[in-house]
Amino acid sequence: MASKSKILSIGGTGYIGKFIVEASVKAGHPTFVLVRESTLSAPSKSQLLDHFKNLGVNFVVGDVLNHESLVNAIKQVDVVISTVGHALLADQVKIIAAIKEAGNVKRFFPSEFGNDVDRAHGAVEPAKSAYYDVKARIRRAVEAEGIPYTYVESYCFDGYFLPNLLQPGAAAPPRDKVVILGDGNPREEQLLKNIQG
Ligand SMILES: NC(=O)c1ccc[n+]([C@@H]2O[C@H](COP(=O)([O-])OP(=O)(O)OC[C@H]3O[C@@H](n4cnc5c(N)ncnc54)[C@H](OP(=O)(O)O)[C@@H]3O)[C@@H](O)[C@H]2O)c1
Repeated sequence: MASKSKILSIGGTGYIGKFIVEASVKAGHPTFVLVRESTLSAPSKSQLLDHFKNLGVNFVVGDVLNHESLVNAIKQVDVVISTVGHALLADQVKIIAAIKEAGNVKRFFPSEFGNDVDRAHGAVEPAKSAYYDVKARIRRAVEAEGIPYTYVESYCFDGYFLPNLLQPGAAAPPRDKVVILGDGNPREEQLLKNIQG
């Protein structure tokens, strides 16, 4: 049997993270999720947390913005998978610093799960500055620190973008107004690739 790694998920209660956490624990990896105190008591998260508990997921209380808590969580594992959302992409420098201090991590997966930000040259604003450029900077920081890494490029998720026809923030397809990114000329396929890093 292949050896199992201890996995720490940071952002494991988010849109994408929850699938990764479930897959990790079902694959037999001892799986830990960094959760904030506020998440543990959030009614909107209770069903997911119960599901994780039943699967055998371990919770470690901490916060990306709290260095000590990050180092403590990271010291318990071999692999760190970040699926933090857009607001926290740049703050992954704090995860990198904690991985360096902990000194035990064999592989880091930064929050990517989109396009190859080093090769997608047609990105339009606001996605370019807010996602692509930040993710590329995080890649360079990981590489500069000599941390073994994997960048997962999964391109666009239909389940995420189709229900609202690519309208940022909308929960349903718009009926009155549609925002078209860029100059409106890229083919739909290119637009889909551009919108999300
Ligand atoms: N390819 C695609 O189509 C696609 C689609 C969506 C996202 N993505 C990418 O996937 C990645 C994850 O995005 P997402 O939408 O899944 O993120 P998300 O749903 O916003 O989840 C963010 C996660 O970070 C946690 N978090 C927030 N602040 C924290 C803090 N200070 N300390 C610790 N944890 C904190 C949240 O906890 P709570 O649960 O407590 O809020 C949540 O678990 C991003 O890189 C994004 O660009 C790709």
